[in-house]
Amino acid sequence: MARDILKTLQSEHDLVRGLFAEMEETTDRSKKGRAELLEQIEANLLPHAKWEELVFYPAFKERADREGLKTHAEAVQEHRAVELTVIPDVHAAAFDTPDFAGRAKVFGELIDHHATEEETTMFKMARKMFNAQERAQLDQQYEEWKQSPAAIAVVAKEKAKAGIKAAVRR
Ligand SMILES: [Fe+2]
Ligand SMILES: [Fe+2]
Repeated sequence: MARDILKTLQSEHDLVRGLFAEMEETTDRSKKGRAELLEQIEANLLPHAKWEELVFYPAFKERADREGLKTHAEAVQEHRAVELTVIPDVHAAAFDTPDFAGRAKVFGELIDHHATEEETTMFKMARKMFNAQERAQLDQQYEEWKQSPAAIAVVAKEKAKAGIKAAVRR
């Protein structure tokens, strides 16, 4: 099967949805399980979100019509809300508390909402904007980027920022 960036992004959405479903099953006693799940969620979500912001969204914006521009702005805004508020708040709660459970649940709900909007609106538009060859190229670039020092640095910076914001909120 030909590679396709839209399929890759979609399958990463599904993977993260699965991790949030597992998180929802944890109890307040499961300190270690929650910590590990949060690690896994971020390990998958942060590179995905950063690459969308750095490469996919700008490429989409360049070819978008007015509806596309609105869809783009909406996606960027949802990323900002998650990055600036939701993730730091999750980190500000102790793993063995109902606070953590509630905040992690909202985190998962927002990601599900955002991913569903991408899948049903943005990716549909993108399928018309980018031909199969371009989608395959983007997929290749994304895979290479994920393994690059640049990607690792960007993700580390995001984690540090979330940590600092969380410390302020505690
Ligand atoms: Fe996104
Ligand atoms: Fe996405």
